[in-house]
Amino acid sequence: MLRRPRRNRNNAAIRNMVEETHLRVSNLVYPLFVVDGKGIKEEISSMPGNFRMSQDVVLKEIRECIKLGLTNFILFPAVAEKLKDKVATYSYDPENFYLKIASAIKKKFPDTCIISDVAMDPYSSDGHDGYVDDGQIVNDVTLPILAKMAVAQAQAGFDLIGPSDMMDGRIQVIREALDEAGFYTTGIMSYTAKYASAFYGPFRDALDSAPKAGDKKTYQMNPANKKEALIEAELDTAEGADFLMVKPALNYLDVIHVLKQNFDLPIAAYHVSGECAMLIAACQNGWLEYKKAMPETLLSIHRAGADVIITYFAKDFAKLVKGKL
Ligand code: PBG
Repeated sequence: MLRRPRRNRNNAAIRNMVEETHLRVSNLVYPLFVVDGKGIKEEISSMPGNFRMSQDVVLKEIRECIKLGLTNFILFPAVAEKLKDKVATYSYDPENFYLKIASAIKKKFPDTCIISDVAMDPYSSDGHDGYVDDGQIVNDVTLPILAKMAVAQAQAGFDLIGPSDMMDGRIQVIREALDEAGFYTTGIMSYTAKYASAFYGPFRDALDSAPKAGDKKTYQMNPANKKEALIEAELDTAEGADFLMVKPALNYLDVIHVLKQNFDLPIAAYHVSGECAMLIAACQNGWLEYKKAMPETLLSIHRAGADVIITYFAKDFAKLVKGKL
């Protein structure tokens, strides 16, 4: 045998020397669920270790994360039912607590990167990402609402705007609205290939944002399709996106890979609630070892081609790196 690949695995020093993929805390984004009020920290039952938090609690949480080297956050609001309506008016209301929390974070921690969520579902009485008329999700009526939401978020201080709604043409409409309002330095992290996945369940529990009727299959992508992701990526690139995201991550590693190979924009992957919940449940049962399975999972997403990973494990990974988990 002339070729013995095992020689390069002989000891830890050699293995480290030939290690191909390195995941850093700076590649990770930590999702935070925020609510109106004070002193609120409610655990989300299907996502142990994740909480709905009011502003004071979120600020403490972010301080802790920064100490661990974690600087990137994506924020999602849990909105009271009485504030929801058909056109998501509260999403761009200057009194919106979500916008106020964003401003408070940037004021206190200017060196963070905070990412918003643009979609109607947290604010919509129909629970859909777009405007609903007679059971249909109407694309072009939704666009100006998303644009207003995005401008309000940029105004509040978000560094990156995160359209997760999957309406056609929204990146261009949002980019133009941001530029017109003077926010030409605010970036867009587009949910480029967001699939109609069964793995968002715990997130919808967290925000109470599940659709009241029907499903999201006329706007989110069919899990069977990959070429369609290339079409979406081409459009988002042309329309002015700064990041292309694939969501979920683990069941879609091939999609992450094909976007990484074909596009030069940074690729993000959203390791979604259901994917994290599965691993947590297996660890709680003693079937997997968290300290090993968790980093291997994140590494696989990075290796597939994701430059940025949005994951509920971000804080634990940061702790692990510091030897504090
Ligand atoms: C809403 C939104 C969803 C997620 C992020 N933004 C849910 C959905 O599309 O129904 C899911 C995230 C997760 O499951 O962790 N537009």
